[in-house]
Amino acid sequence: MSAYDYIQWQPDFMTGIEKIDEGHLQFIKIHNQLVDILNKEFCQQKIVELLYALMHYAEHHLINEEIYYQGYDGFADHKINHQNFIERINQIQPYLASEKGPEACEELLVFLNDWFENHILAQDKDAVEYVKGIQK
Ligand SMILES: [Fe+2]
Repeated sequence: MSAYDYIQWQPDFMTGIEKIDEGHLQFIKIHNQLVDILNKEFCQQKIVELLYALMHYAEHHLINEEIYYQGYDGFADHKINHQNFIERINQIQPYLASEKGPEACEELLVFLNDWFENHILAQDKDAVEYVKGIQK
């Protein structure tokens, strides 16, 4: 079977906003735990714990961001992206412990990779830059 890739932490992942960076580090940790359980082929047995961590990330971190990004001109779209993230996790959840578990675990990883690249490294960075610019 193929090995899945961990996210290797890099300094330029940081936005400089402590609460947002804390959330992103938490996300990387969860992502890497998913890679770990996929690589060890026990995703189904461990996925419930991981989902709790992911829901905690979604509830706390995404709301922190929304408080911070108020006034950002892409705020409404950004908020919709957060809602879509939560919906996708809720949608995939029932499959993870079913007989479709292994494929669902892989799908979740593809989704988290996409979220990391297209949301955390792009949309969050834009929002932070905008808010920082306003604060100067
Ligand atoms: Fe965000």
